[in-house]
Amino acid sequence: MKVYLKTYGCQMNERDSEAVAGMLAARGYEITAQEEDADILIFNTCSVRDQAERKAIGKIGILTRLKRRKPDIYIGIMGCMAQNRGQALLDELPHVDFVIGTGQLHRLPEILAGVIAQRHRELRVEEDHAVLTGMSTHFSRGNRISAYIAVTRGCNRFCSYCIVPYVRGREISREIADIKHEAIELVAQGVREIMLLGQNVAAFGLGGNINPPPPDVSPFADLLTELNDIPGLQRLRFTSPYPSYFNAKLIAAMAALPKVCHSLHLPLQSGSNAILRAMNRHYTAEQYLDIVGQLRRAIPDITFSTDIIVGFPGETETDFLATRRVMNEVGFDNAYIFKYSPRQGTVAATMLDQVPQQIKEERNHILLDDLNRRVAKHNAELRGQIVEVMVEGPSKRNCERWCGRTATNKMTIFDPAPGLEPGDLVQVKITRTTAMSLFGQLTATGGAPV
Ligand code: SAH
Ligand code: SF4
Ligand code: F3S
Repeated sequence: MKVYLKTYGCQMNERDSEAVAGMLAARGYEITAQEEDADILIFNTCSVRDQAERKAIGKIGILTRLKRRKPDIYIGIMGCMAQNRGQALLDELPHVDFVIGTGQLHRLPEILAGVIAQRHRELRVEEDHAVLTGMSTHFSRGNRISAYIAVTRGCNRFCSYCIVPYVRGREISREIADIKHEAIELVAQGVREIMLLGQNVAAFGLGGNINPPPPDVSPFADLLTELNDIPGLQRLRFTSPYPSYFNAKLIAAMAALPKVCHSLHLPLQSGSNAILRAMNRHYTAEQYLDIVGQLRRAIPDITFSTDIIVGFPGETETDFLATRRVMNEVGFDNAYIFKYSPRQGTVAATMLDQVPQQIKEERNHILLDDLNRRVAKHNAELRGQIVEVMVEGPSKRNCERWCGRTATNKMTIFDPAPGLEPGDLVQVKITRTTAMSLFGQLTATGGAPV
């Protein structure tokens, strides 16, 4: 049977889809990118903002027609919205055959087999820690140089706006040895770059305790140190860390380990201390800036990206301007700016002073304009410089040119040379830049002149 798998949401969902595809492929299912060919359609969903849910529900809703035409197909919903809405999805969408929450994904093949054998509808949303160890399979489409590894799952932080702790359950970490084993296997398959994933990734190994450890304790630093030793691996990235876990040990490890990339996604959310407090974010703007300062001193060429929420309940013009100021002070090279979306069941959804949509839109635009101007300027400063790029392959826009990323996560486009392979590290002299990309010429491949 052919399975079509569509993924919404964050990298953790992409990673889960890869694992589910891997498990299904191992049981003889064929994975197809064509919806029309599929016998089974599975939607891996996200609940983080209202729009994310609406997009998936809209898409699944219109499949009633397909199901009428082909009554033998199976339609399933998995992931965060499945966890969040459970039975309501089966009630509202009568053509859906199964709903499988985030804790049951490792059982998906078994549940699917039951649904097919008995032609009944199934709801499975219990939390189960076995999902952590049951999900280390990978399914790769073609040869790839980059892969995700989930090192923690769940979140205990309960930021007041966020639904993730409710839909992903309590935070749990894998064993370092288990993660290293998976990384070594991936490198043997040709992977050169690993992105470590967790909703609260730098809290790895702290047993779910949200309090930051003493300056000399960081199991996450220990994990990075272990993975840095793997021969053939070139780059290590991770997302998303919570600011408070950047203690002396983690910062020193990031600076000392040559494979850890000098680009860090460090969610700020707001630059106003009053809003940070209302968000239940346990740091102030000053503490955030201090961490950025320490990282910059240890790693001078580090670049930062972030997540920002505008229009959180009670956000005044003064609060917003504080966010704008902190963003400019850090000088982020990328930022995901979200308009606050009330999530039922979270504390912030019940706060009284909700901000009008119009103001959310305005604040969103102002921050995006600032960002674009700043990134164009940062990139222009790289003109004439030589940067190291890990080759990805032909550029999507123009396949005669190739692309790759710098360790600071800048997309770089260049003319290829004979013998160049995805995963190679090359030196590129930058000749032109935009806010999106760097353009240049190869100066050397793998250390030797071209
Ligand atoms: N675990 C990650 C965040 C996952 S959600 C972390 O803490 O870094 C990704 C981003 O979505 C968050 O950083 C936040 O900026 C945004 N977000 C979460 N809930 C939101 C909501 N209710 N409305 C708008 N944006 C939200
Ligand atoms: Fe959500 Fe906060 Fe956990 Fe991130 S740390 S997933 S924003 S609750
Ligand atoms: Fe969305 Fe779930 Fe990720 S809610 S952002 S897919 S953890």
